[in-house]
Amino acid sequence: MPMTAHALPDAPCHLDGRWLPLNQAQVSVLDRGFLFGDGVYEVIPVYGGRLFRFDEHMGRLAHSLDAVRIPNPHSRDGWLALLRELVARELAHSGQGDQLAYLQVTRGVAPRSHPMPPGLTPTVFAMSQPHQPPGADQRREGVACVTARDFRWERGDIKTTSLLGGVMARQIAADHGAAETILLRDSGHGHGLTVTEGSSSNVWAVLDGALIGVPPSHHTLAGIRIELLRELCEEEGIACHLRPIAESELTIADEILISSAGREVLPVTRLDGEPVGHGALRGKPGPVYARLHAAYERAKLEQSI
Ligand code: PDD
Repeated sequence: MPMTAHALPDAPCHLDGRWLPLNQAQVSVLDRGFLFGDGVYEVIPVYGGRLFRFDEHMGRLAHSLDAVRIPNPHSRDGWLALLRELVARELAHSGQGDQLAYLQVTRGVAPRSHPMPPGLTPTVFAMSQPHQPPGADQRREGVACVTARDFRWERGDIKTTSLLGGVMARQIAADHGAAETILLRDSGHGHGLTVTEGSSSNVWAVLDGALIGVPPSHHTLAGIRIELLRELCEEEGIACHLRPIAESELTIADEILISSAGREVLPVTRLDGEPVGHGALRGKPGPVYARLHAAYERAKLEQSI
C-alpha cells in the first residue's frame, strides 16, 4: 500500500459493479480519467438517507455524457438502485443519513492516444461521505469571496473531472483566506466583465429586491440549485431573473449568494476585502438569503427520494 499524506478512509464505495472499501479501490494507470481527466461526475446531496433532486442530477449527467460521447452505463433506475445501496452502506458505516454522494464515469481504459477510442467500457465509480452543511457561524456571518478572471475552458456546461482550472481558481480564494473565487469573463456584448460562476458554485446578486442569476451558457455549469432557487423564489414571492451580472453590480448589490450541492445557499458578506451590501446590513447576511435558506430547508424534506 503506497504511503499517502492523509489516511485514506475505509468507507464503502462502488467500482465497476463491485463494493469495496475506498482505501482498497484501484483503477488502471491507463484509465483515461487518470491520463486525460476524460470523464464526468455528479455530486448529489442526500438528506435523511434520501437523494435530493435526483432526477435533475441524472438529467445533467446525461447532458455531460452526451457532450463528451461516453455512453451512459446505467438507466435512471439503475443509477437510483446503485446510489440507494451506496447511501445505505455509508449510513451503516458512518451512521450519517445526511451525505454527499459522488459518482464519476470515465471513458475507460485504453493505450494512451488523444482521440476517443470507440467501444470502451466506461469506468464507474461512486462514493458517499457524511455531509457537513455550512456551519452556524457561516450562516450567521456569511463568507468572504474574491474575484478573478475566468481562465478556465469554454465548456463549463460539462461537469467534467478535468478540474485543474477549477482547482487553480479555488486556490486563489484559499490563498486569501476566502471561501470561494467568483470568476469574471469578458462577455463580448459590451457589458465589460460579467460573472460566470464560482470555482465550484453558482453566483447570485440581489439588486432592487430581485434575485439575479447568470443565464445558462457554455461558460457556466447548469447548477441544480439554479432551478431550485428559482422555484423557491416563486414560492416566496421574490422576483428572480436570469441575466448577465456585471462586475460593477457586485459592488452595489444588496446581497451576494453562492449555491452548490455542498454549500447549499450561502451569503457572501465580504468581496475582495470589502463588506457587501448597504446600511445596517452592510457586511451581514440579508433578508433574501434568510428566506431562501428557510425555504431550502423545507425543500430538503419535500424533494428527496
Ligand atoms: N460543484 N459551478 C461549478 C463549476 C461547480 O463545480 C458546481 C458544483 C456548481 C453548482 O452546481 P450544483 O448546484 O449542481 O452543485 C456550479 C460540485 C458541488 C463539486 O464539484 O463538488
